[in-house]
Amino acid sequence: MLKLKCIALAVFLLQGFSVSLTAQQAHLIPIPVKAEYPQGFYSLPNRIIIAAPKSEALQATVKNLTDRLEKTAMRKVQMLWDASSQADLAQIRLILSKQANPTLGNEGYTLAVNARGIVITANKPAGLFYGVQSLLQLMPKEIEAKQTVIKQTWKVPFAQITDYPRFAWRGLMLDVARHFFNKDQVKQFIDEMVAYKYNILHFHLTDDEGWRVEIKSFPNLTKKGAWNVPKVGRFTEFSKPEPNEPRTQGGFFTKEDIQDIVSYAKGRFVNVMPEIDVPGHSMAAIASYPELSCTPEAVNYQVISGEPFIDWSHGHAVALQDNTLCPANEKVYTFLDKVFTEVAEMFPFEYIHMGGDECPKNYWEKNPQILAMMQKENLKTPQEVQAFFTRRLEKIITSKGKKMMGWDEILEGGGLPKNTAVMSWRGIAGGVQAAKDGHEVVMTPNNHVYVDLMQGDAAIEPPVYETVRLRDSYAFNPVPEGVDAKLVKGGQANLWSEQLFTYRHLQYMLFPRAWAVSEALWSPQENRNWDNFVSRVEHHFGRFDQAEKKYAPSMYDAIIQVGKNEQGQLWVELSTEVNPLSVHYSFDYSYPDNFYPAATGKVIIPKDALEMRMISYRGKEKVGRMMTISIEDLKKRLKK
Ligand code: ACM
Repeated sequence: MLKLKCIALAVFLLQGFSVSLTAQQAHLIPIPVKAEYPQGFYSLPNRIIIAAPKSEALQATVKNLTDRLEKTAMRKVQMLWDASSQADLAQIRLILSKQANPTLGNEGYTLAVNARGIVITANKPAGLFYGVQSLLQLMPKEIEAKQTVIKQTWKVPFAQITDYPRFAWRGLMLDVARHFFNKDQVKQFIDEMVAYKYNILHFHLTDDEGWRVEIKSFPNLTKKGAWNVPKVGRFTEFSKPEPNEPRTQGGFFTKEDIQDIVSYAKGRFVNVMPEIDVPGHSMAAIASYPELSCTPEAVNYQVISGEPFIDWSHGHAVALQDNTLCPANEKVYTFLDKVFTEVAEMFPFEYIHMGGDECPKNYWEKNPQILAMMQKENLKTPQEVQAFFTRRLEKIITSKGKKMMGWDEILEGGGLPKNTAVMSWRGIAGGVQAAKDGHEVVMTPNNHVYVDLMQGDAAIEPPVYETVRLRDSYAFNPVPEGVDAKLVKGGQANLWSEQLFTYRHLQYMLFPRAWAVSEALWSPQENRNWDNFVSRVEHHFGRFDQAEKKYAPSMYDAIIQVGKNEQGQLWVELSTEVNPLSVHYSFDYSYPDNFYPAATGKVIIPKDALEMRMISYRGKEKVGRMMTISIEDLKKRLKK
């Protein structure tokens, strides 16, 4: 009997042990194609030899790994470049396969950690780079710390991983136009994206609020177009600037800055796609060169400083000031030719994005120049006018040896050249249509990957138009049913910056949703699982804490649903994206700890209550933030 008890205890301990090990080991984001984690750890020795092929392409990869090991983990690192005869001495080996492994493609890798050390193999340097990103994620979270960490042992779990991406296009869009982020911040952004295996930086460089790239042929674009009046608060509700108010907010990238960014990105296997957003979203260009507009009042226009100037109440853009380039003015095409010549020279990537989104047509409808052009070119609608403009621009962009890409509005009006790629943002419909018409497609549906939107309830999140929760981002699948998968190059998350005033807040908006999208873009659909992802997100929160990076804990906070019962009583239902959590609440203005009632089912709002407070708990542990909502606000939601 005692023996039986001992065996039972051993089995229990073993199970407990293996459960905790599994939890500890399986935290890679994005989740690999195939990964096994045998029992055991490799401890990083005090002196580490790294063997790597001497390739210019791997310099930044190796430097990052070496820096982390030396500066954070206090290991002594010695490099062996191209030393195949001595490579057996190395504890970490990066190997470019002599015979290509077709499964791995250009970006895949294998990573083996065992008692002898660590070996990463790949067909190409990019694969070794991604292997190193995975290796860093397998290391203890303290490896992310900015300063030296004293730790008795630095253990890496045994692993056997084979991994490669689902999509070649794994993009993140950064809007540096609405609010400017400088060169060092862009480099930081690149570092943060590649850690999660993104490979395309879509650089939104121009908009109504700023022109951010030096164009030698048109110096006013940055002398005037890069500057507006500093405002804080809620974008689009800012007061109108005074006529002579100092325009001190903004900035731009010189040609040297761009060269530096592109080269930094290249060292991390990232392509940079510039976007020059035309013919709408062009107020910064028009304020710099009013002759680009069809509207005579444009001579008085200024770069927008976040004050309202478009009426969105009709469901589409109605401009109160004309922010469009004039499609009936030959000077506009000369301008675009020169601008795109310089842009093509600065950015080696094969695609240039020309925007094309949200172009108001109300000024065009009344403009004699445009009406005359419509007659001459037999254009029936303002959409056909934009399509005419797009076709002319396509000729310009392809003449520079580049492929053109635009937002899905460029499908409207018809006649889009086949070789133009479409980025679908108003859901997936534009992407589905574009693929049917034979265009290449990148999926960026706003209801899944717009990481500028609120990630939780408006009662606690900084206000931005709508909500896209972490779970919505995780549900992103770039290839919906019925689409020709061959034409879908991949997808990306878009970070617009209307409401981004600091880099800290940029991080808050980006993470953890960018982790969810990275998994949608890299990992096989069948490997993805929400509950498992949440546990990995929690591990990465710990890594970000070490790195002193900001992230949003919104996934823990309450989701509020409101309704009225037959007796006319107002009720709320409180749930969370992450389970199992309980939400405790109060109506008496006091702080709800975990002894307060937990919301189950419909909670009736007491007749005289004015405010409800709530916090999420996991058992006794407070995981959510306190949310406060007035009963007045709940009633307003009911009306909607
Ligand atoms: C967009 O969000 N206007 C492309």
